[in-house]
Amino acid sequence: MDRLTEYLFPKQVSTFAQDIDNLFYFIFYTSLALLAIVTFGMIYLAIKYRFKKNDEVRLTSSTDHNSILESSFVIIPLILVSITFVWGIKSYLNMVTVPNDAIEIKVTGQSWFWTFDYPEGGSTLNELVVPSGVPIKIVLSSKDVLHSFYIPVMRAKMDVLPNRYNVMWFDARHEGIYPIFCTEYCGTGHSQMNAQVVVMNPKQYNVWLAEAGSEDDDLPLDELGAKLYSKKACITCHTLDGSPLVGPSYLQTSQMWGQERVFDDGSSATIDDNYIRNSILEPQSQIVAGYQGVMPTYQGLLNDRELDALIAFLKTLKEDSEI
Ligand code: CUA
Repeated sequence: MDRLTEYLFPKQVSTFAQDIDNLFYFIFYTSLALLAIVTFGMIYLAIKYRFKKNDEVRLTSSTDHNSILESSFVIIPLILVSITFVWGIKSYLNMVTVPNDAIEIKVTGQSWFWTFDYPEGGSTLNELVVPSGVPIKIVLSSKDVLHSFYIPVMRAKMDVLPNRYNVMWFDARHEGIYPIFCTEYCGTGHSQMNAQVVVMNPKQYNVWLAEAGSEDDDLPLDELGAKLYSKKACITCHTLDGSPLVGPSYLQTSQMWGQERVFDDGSSATIDDNYIRNSILEPQSQIVAGYQGVMPTYQGLLNDRELDALIAFLKTLKEDSEI
């Protein structure tokens, strides 16, 4: 069974993952057994009582009756459904009852990335870092449309709504890096709205917490920019190889540095530092012709040094491509 589970399902990482899989298997195998009994019974009876030549037509008496057979048709399914119900409600209550000692992490969904805010301060983009063996309470909300937060290895999934908070929790037993998906269709970038959960041992986690954010101050601007490019999810919509994705490629913009860029309302602007800064903070104000105005604002998500860093990084791409 364990082998089969490994093959069919993502790893069982949360404390309740195994229970949920077992319930699934219980329903699956009883359904399979019932299907077999009904199918083979039907075929057997159809062959045994088929109409043969010279058979006279016999009608079954309407009073034919078998109490044992008929009551077992009711009692056996009733037992199976009752087991499923009791098992299911116990598992469900376990999944929705957050332990009191849980660490609370705020998760914000936004087209098309995830922001994680930690209780001790500090935040990450598209990377949820948690300690193992400690219950984690996830408080979810959305800045725009409906999203859904799904961590397959935890067997935990919850809708993410604007204007209200939803809660889920898990307790990770195995360290590792596992995928997180958005499972509610939320627009052009839905399929790119992925993140990962990094489960560390509690000691590592405390070290990580202490370091989070502080290391960036020493990096040169363009290196910090390269880091932010993936950390702040620019990578989701802007490539570095010149090919257009949801938005224009950084490389193309870099190669057009100093030239005019035409917008969808017919206006244009020179590509320079101010243009890039404005595109990041107020993306809707200048939509490049041929693209949709779908980029969210990064107002409040990047400080001035981080903005400088992204601009510096973008500028270096042109030079790198010319070598
Ligand atoms: Cu967010 Cu799909």
